[in-house]
Amino acid sequence: MEALDREELTIIRKFEHIEHCLKRNVQAHVSNGFEDVHFIHMSLPEIDKDEIDLSVEFLGRRFDYPIFIAGMTGGTKGSQLAGKINRTLAKAAQELNIPMGVGSQRAMVRKPETWESYYVRDVAPDVFLVGNLGAPQFAETMPERYGLEEALKAVETVQADALAIHLNPLQESVQPEGDTQYRGVLKALAELKSEFPYPIIAKETGAGVSMEVAVRLESIGIDAIDVGGLGGTSWSGVEYYRAKDEMGRNLALKFWDWGIKTAISVAEVRSSTELPIIATGGMRDGITMAKALAMGATFAGVALPLLKPAVKGDVEGVVKVLRRYIEEIRNTMFLVGAKNVEELRRVPLVITGFTREWLEQRIDLPAYLRGGRF
Ligand SMILES: Cc1cc2nc3c(=O)[nH]c(=O)nc-3n(C[C@H](O)[C@H](O)[C@H](O)COP(=O)(O)O)c2cc1C
Repeated sequence: MEALDREELTIIRKFEHIEHCLKRNVQAHVSNGFEDVHFIHMSLPEIDKDEIDLSVEFLGRRFDYPIFIAGMTGGTKGSQLAGKINRTLAKAAQELNIPMGVGSQRAMVRKPETWESYYVRDVAPDVFLVGNLGAPQFAETMPERYGLEEALKAVETVQADALAIHLNPLQESVQPEGDTQYRGVLKALAELKSEFPYPIIAKETGAGVSMEVAVRLESIGIDAIDVGGLGGTSWSGVEYYRAKDEMGRNLALKFWDWGIKTAISVAEVRSSTELPIIATGGMRDGITMAKALAMGATFAGVALPLLKPAVKGDVEGVVKVLRRYIEEIRNTMFLVGAKNVEELRRVPLVITGFTREWLEQRIDLPAYLRGGRF
């Protein structure tokens, strides 16, 4: 048998990821931190629940709900598994008028025949679609390094509206075939940003974005940050199940819960930059999502809970999960007297516990809570 090339290995790896995500518990063993964030119940909301408007503005577009379907997959030929997942998610996103991302398009850059597995425009003509490439591919030491051409290909082949660049040093560092080149990535992204005609979203994948990183990303003109924090899907957890030997398993286990919790990452990015934030990482109910919005995020992002219905091609199943979150966000907004997301960002919050100690050392917490968070 002919040896598999790098891109074929990438495709196989993707399916192993999906399989592990479906069959095993790959979530972090720690929370995403929002249990330390408390709303103050409002007995006199002075609004009607029916008048609550959940719409948000992001990169010049208006969306009906503050939820973002985080990118998961792509890379098979035609309408096989990855294509089915993306099309199912896209139909749900179209129905609800919310944005969505596709998974890494690295396979597509090398094997253009896999483009259809990322293509959803025919079923989701109006969806705000976000393409996806990995930061290591832009590193100066990467052979066949990516640049403007690959970024344009990723966006234009699927008629996307923006490009996400995923930052995933944790995952790359604990997998045997990982791309651990990161030298020169920021400079490469600055160059890309100066000539690329689409918005760029920098996106972590489960270990969170710190204020130092956020400030650097803002300084080169990145348009938004998906904090992809700790507390949801753990890529080190996924790699633990994929590890072929004791050494690999040990490394992945040690770093299973590595990173900055989503709640803390939102606070760090909000207090240090003006960038729109997508709060992804362990968002599993609407109360938690409302907390992220109150802390200054524009969207709560979700991946893993949508995978199961999406694999089955169950559009209504995906919509049902999302509508449950939407109703929980709406109910929370009613109980804190916020009739739109702008007002939700001004309601009082109390931050306690571990998060408080962390935040006090990292940011001006009283100012943040007084409204410095906006
Ligand atoms: C099966 C699966 C595949 C994923 N593939 C990608 C990917 O290709 N590119 C990327 O940027 N993020 C990828 N992610 C990460 C998600 O976008 C998200 O940041 C992460 O799963 C945390 O969200 P969650 O806790 O809701 O799952 C993937 C997640 C899952 C569950």
